[in-house]
Amino acid sequence: MASTTLPATMKMLLQASRQTEEVILTTGPLPVPTHPQDVLVRVHTAAPCNGELSWAVNFPESIPNEKILIPLQDLAGTVITPPADNAAFGFAPGDRVYCRVDASRPGAGSEYSLPRASELAKIPPSLDWIDAAATPLSALTAWQAVFVQGTLDKAALKGDAKARAHNAKIRVLVTGAAGGVGSWVVQFAALAGAKAVVAVCSAEKEEAVRKLGATEVVDYRKISTEDWAKADSAAREVDLVVDLIGGKGLAGCWTALREGGAIISVNTPPDVVKPAGLEKKASKSLFFIVETLGSNLAEIGELIEAGKAHPTVDSVWEFAEFKKAFARLDSGHANGKIIIKVSDEA
Ligand SMILES: NC(=O)c1ccc[n+]([C@@H]2O[C@H](COP(=O)([O-])OP(=O)(O)OC[C@H]3O[C@@H](n4cnc5c(N)ncnc54)[C@H](OP(=O)(O)O)[C@@H]3O)[C@@H](O)[C@H]2O)c1
Repeated sequence: MASTTLPATMKMLLQASRQTEEVILTTGPLPVPTHPQDVLVRVHTAAPCNGELSWAVNFPESIPNEKILIPLQDLAGTVITPPADNAAFGFAPGDRVYCRVDASRPGAGSEYSLPRASELAKIPPSLDWIDAAATPLSALTAWQAVFVQGTLDKAALKGDAKARAHNAKIRVLVTGAAGGVGSWVVQFAALAGAKAVVAVCSAEKEEAVRKLGATEVVDYRKISTEDWAKADSAAREVDLVVDLIGGKGLAGCWTALREGGAIISVNTPPDVVKPAGLEKKASKSLFFIVETLGSNLAEIGELIEAGKAHPTVDSVWEFAEFKKAFARLDSGHANGKIIIKVSDEA
């Protein structure tokens, strides 16, 4: 039924080539489902991710040559055609859904997109299109950094006493705490009952991160994490580092980490920047790439619907203003997600 009403072409953003970060607004054919889990979705809002236009050069193994280079891997939209293999999912035309589309496939900077059913979750009713597109990548990355790769126990979110006792012993430090991912890390760690949530961010973001649950704030422009930790190591050392920044900021986190703690980064393998001569051993030191799991998004949606967590939006741009949206992202100082309205309904 839906296919008879679909247009022949759609407006879409396109990265001009794998080697350039130039993005153009053009017209192209609608995507056609080929995988049993492909879901045709009409996109209302979409969001870019820091650095995504450099992935074809920097991570060529993750971006196949045949990928149509439509950017913006996060979307919120409406199901047009459910997947052929729908038994485990039960998506119906008209469902409001959101997800992160795996970077190996075309993104959502287009009027229609083809996420997989395993990537999708229904949007919590309280979220509008803007907040919905602000959620997937950032919240998934934070969820996996804190509860899957990190050492906090998510059972605490549902009041499990053993999990709460475990988490109550863990001091967490997060770099880039006020950004898209960081604002979720702060919320998840606080909700899970961490002993402390140390947010590394600039002074003007202090109030915002404290509202999300940060208990201590380190202004990286005034003091390095290393010097902050050294000033009172007994009180300040942390059990879990979640790093989003890499570089010197991550190197300094090694000093803040207690012996045997865990250090997780989504930017750089922590061992690469470990200060020379530092004898400290971590129980875990790893870099990971987010998994685009709708099942995690559904768990996150429960917290959102209960009013316990929410996305942070930096700014909202019309489709035609995509260049300004990318420029804002490139500034490196966004306070939450940058959202692009793709449909007039957003
Ligand atoms: N591996 C993965 O799967 C994965 C997934 C998602 C994201 N990422 C990566 O995670 C990082 C964060 O992404 P995002 O979307 O949260 O970025 P974002 O929204 O642009 O946020 C960046 C934040 O970092 C802060 N910042 C900049 N320099 C800093 C420093 N030296 N120390 C502490 N904070 C600093 C900025 O705040 P101020 O204004 O306070 O400076 C800003 O709030 C990016 O590198 C992204 O590529 C990786």
